[in-house]
Amino acid sequence: MPTRTSPKTHPRVTRPHTKGRFTPVRTKDRFLVFGAPSIAEPEIAEVVATLKSGWLGTGPKVAQFEKEFAAYRGAQHCVAVSSCTAALHLSMLAAGLEAGDEVITTPLTFCATVNAIIHAGARPVLADIDPATMNIDPAEVAKKITPRTRAILPVHFGGRPCEMDALVDLARRHDLHVIEDCAHAIETQYKGKNAGTFGDFGCFSFYVTKNVVTGEGGMVLAQDEQHAARIKVLALHGMSRDAWKRYSDEGYKHYDVVNAGFKYNMMDLQASLGIHQLRRVEENWKRRSEIWGRFQEELKQYPIGLPAEPNADTRHAYHLYPILVDGERAGISRDRFIDTMTAHNIGVGVHYRSIPEHPYYQQTLGWKPEDFPSSMRVGRQTVSLPLSPGLTEQDAGDVIEAVKRTIEGPGIEGKMKMETFVSEG
Ligand SMILES: Cc1ncc(COP(=O)(O)O)c(C=O)c1O
Repeated sequence: MPTRTSPKTHPRVTRPHTKGRFTPVRTKDRFLVFGAPSIAEPEIAEVVATLKSGWLGTGPKVAQFEKEFAAYRGAQHCVAVSSCTAALHLSMLAAGLEAGDEVITTPLTFCATVNAIIHAGARPVLADIDPATMNIDPAEVAKKITPRTRAILPVHFGGRPCEMDALVDLARRHDLHVIEDCAHAIETQYKGKNAGTFGDFGCFSFYVTKNVVTGEGGMVLAQDEQHAARIKVLALHGMSRDAWKRYSDEGYKHYDVVNAGFKYNMMDLQASLGIHQLRRVEENWKRRSEIWGRFQEELKQYPIGLPAEPNADTRHAYHLYPILVDGERAGISRDRFIDTMTAHNIGVGVHYRSIPEHPYYQQTLGWKPEDFPSSMRVGRQTVSLPLSPGLTEQDAGDVIEAVKRTIEGPGIEGKMKMETFVSEG
């Protein structure tokens, strides 16, 4: 069982925050942007070629990206869409969810996971996380299954795979769909099997901070050909298959509208980025794994919680590097830690405050943070450090130095009010 660094190994620190002069680790003009994408010449050239081709919308580049992504993940059916949110929404529609159906997911996720369930007309039900892995706890899921439950929606948090054996077993026993939120998990594997291929649907994100970037973009892997076909139609207004070709060099073609669909298609412009990003996915993974390892090694001397090491029979995607800042133990509150890192010109993120912290869910679903104590605690302590493949050794060293100085002071008390660059999503 993975464990986080025990608080006992780090005594509480009394910080000399108000003493000494605050000197930022980096200058403002070298602000380290959290989650900065690594864009290279091949995708720039492909985008330019697409712009010049006159075909910007859904077309041959999207088809190529789908084919190459399917090959990378070893999937039968792949449909590119405009976002992971769209991928999740359409997966639930293709699964045939109806009003009143329940979908169990984690409280420690981006709001899009839960919103997609609501947009599909179903009712989201939360099951708390295992705080060591930050992933949904299968034992908590089991407690939440009712006769109305239709699906389990696990999120491979930060790129670490969920306990898929236990979740798939529960789904089989209760005849539930499994819809995997793989927004962080493009390279993730669990016992040799790729994330996104355990359930009926695997949903991926190519948002700007993700491991493969198309600006905005998403992908659905579907096990069933009929499901994939339905998603394809729903993603483009509900128009009959291949309607995107209606203005191609084959000449104008009539189409039929067979559903009230959505405008969720990916464009060739986006796929032009994705094709080349995907070619560097392993190289970028390797670089992030090195930075992740360096952080693990060099940050363990500080009184903060570090991510659990990956299990031996899994592959972590190293999408996020979340640390826990417990005010008592670290001698600095989480939010003050964020402000001080920002003052050191290091951009950080919060992934995530737990879903029940947000007023909308409190007001409409009656959720309270205390009802999901592990997610609440993690959500109130977590800070994600930058982990982009573009980070140099100097950048990674600056992040470590900024953590050290933030913990040991001097702090930013009395310093001017700062702009904050805190990323969610
Ligand atoms: C866990 C999780 N699920 C879903 C999404 C939604 O992805 P997208 O922005 O592509 O819609 C995100 C995006 O940040 C995410 O982190």
